[in-house]
Amino acid sequence: MVTATACTQHSWETFYDPYERVRCAFCGYTPFATIPGPQRDFVVSEAPYPGYFAGRGAGKSIAGLIKLIHYATRNPGALLFATQPTNDGFEQNVLPAMREIWRDGEGSEWAFKEKKGQIVFPRLNVTVLLLSAEATIPGIGASFAAGWMDEIGIGNQRDLFLSLQPAMRQKGYDHQIWVTSTPKVTYPWIKQIWVEHIHPLTRRELASWQGRYPTFHAHTKDNPWLPEEIKSQLLSEWEGSRWAAQELAGEFITVEGVAFPEFSRQIHVRAFDGRPTARRVVGIDFGQARPTALVEIVQDEGKKLWVVDSFYKRNAIEDDWVQWCADRKITKLVCDPTASEEQLIFWRGKYNIYMTPAKSNRRDERYKFWSQNIAVKDDGRPNIYIDPKNEDLIAELENLAHAVTRGRNEPEDKWVPGSNDHAYDAGAYAGMEFEGYYGTPHAPFALGRIIRRR
Ligand SMILES: Nc1ncnc2c1ncn2[C@@H]1O[C@H](COP(=O)(O)OP(=O)(O)O)[C@@H](O)[C@H]1O
Ligand SMILES: [Mg+2]
Repeated sequence: MVTATACTQHSWETFYDPYERVRCAFCGYTPFATIPGPQRDFVVSEAPYPGYFAGRGAGKSIAGLIKLIHYATRNPGALLFATQPTNDGFEQNVLPAMREIWRDGEGSEWAFKEKKGQIVFPRLNVTVLLLSAEATIPGIGASFAAGWMDEIGIGNQRDLFLSLQPAMRQKGYDHQIWVTSTPKVTYPWIKQIWVEHIHPLTRRELASWQGRYPTFHAHTKDNPWLPEEIKSQLLSEWEGSRWAAQELAGEFITVEGVAFPEFSRQIHVRAFDGRPTARRVVGIDFGQARPTALVEIVQDEGKKLWVVDSFYKRNAIEDDWVQWCADRKITKLVCDPTASEEQLIFWRGKYNIYMTPAKSNRRDERYKFWSQNIAVKDDGRPNIYIDPKNEDLIAELENLAHAVTRGRNEPEDKWVPGSNDHAYDAGAYAGMEFEGYYGTPHAPFALGRIIRRR
């Protein structure tokens, strides 16, 4: 076997049997290979719009990258693109993945041009423009040969896809856009294109779609390269849950009833960086047998809300949260407006904590607060971010679901039994104080039941 460094004149070719890999024609070196099965089939697909829909950690980003390298190898001189849902996606996902499969090629075979936002393959004269769905979509003036969109289920990448389609016009190349993602019920355009074959805007059947939008599905557990520890963690987190088919098997499920299908850790959970803020409000939801929750929200100068801290405790006694407030010099709390006046006077007298009733006690107003702020706006960003230390609130937002009675299409005006919504309520009481700042109303997600699709 020839080592990577013995040959200085690598000339890359693709090699298919028994599975796809890239090989140097001179020295025979093969830096990486696909996983036999769906990952391999996706990489070798020559259809115009192949989709690799797979579970978490199933090998999506690596598949997209290998396909990029594969395309570059066969198409010197091509201009390519690669998209990520967020600005930091390249540093967080693409570069580490690239270094994982082809570290010894960095510098000579490929290079990351950070300032230009490109990955280049100098020997092949191929440039890959790195595009983020979070940045404002520029008028796409470039003429591309092909490109890859990663995690199209996160953030709204529909418009980016639709504006890239007509940009596939570099002459002399077979044009292709391949996508990789864990499917997400939130963004129906993905299912419309790859499963239903209808145009997401006109709802018309896609022209001659047969054979043009093949889908490849892979399960997290079938990735032989995924470290056992990560694999068993993912399996234990998702197996048996309503999300397993989507999050582990990459299947398109229909989830209705879930309160915040748009909520995603990748988009909404961000560490608060201590930036200047204009205002701070803390909400409280009392519990007796249930947890007491306090949620602290600040608003930054760009009008984005940040959940910076929270208190969450089952069977909390008064002293627990009073101390929590004292440590943070919090003297004002927003609470359930149905709290009695005697109670409010009592808190003030005993602890010097001034309780203000929340703007509304209506369940739909609390829901509206969260759904409007969670919604990803046209700029690719939501209105609210949650610091990762608020694990209980994050879990509530992921798990809350509307109760739906069999035989009725409309969800009932309550959560499925056993749901926790204390941090949710405390957050809404606080957040509603910022009301008037957030954007246009967002249509709530259609409600119903979960149906698993094959
Ligand atoms: N073809 C491959 N060759 C080597 N390792 C792979 C391959 N495909 C996946 N992996 C490994 O599996 C891990 C998860 O793959 P990745 O593509 O990042 O998953 P996903 O994007 O689906 O979350 C990678 O970090 C890598 O270690
Ligand atoms: Mg990935």
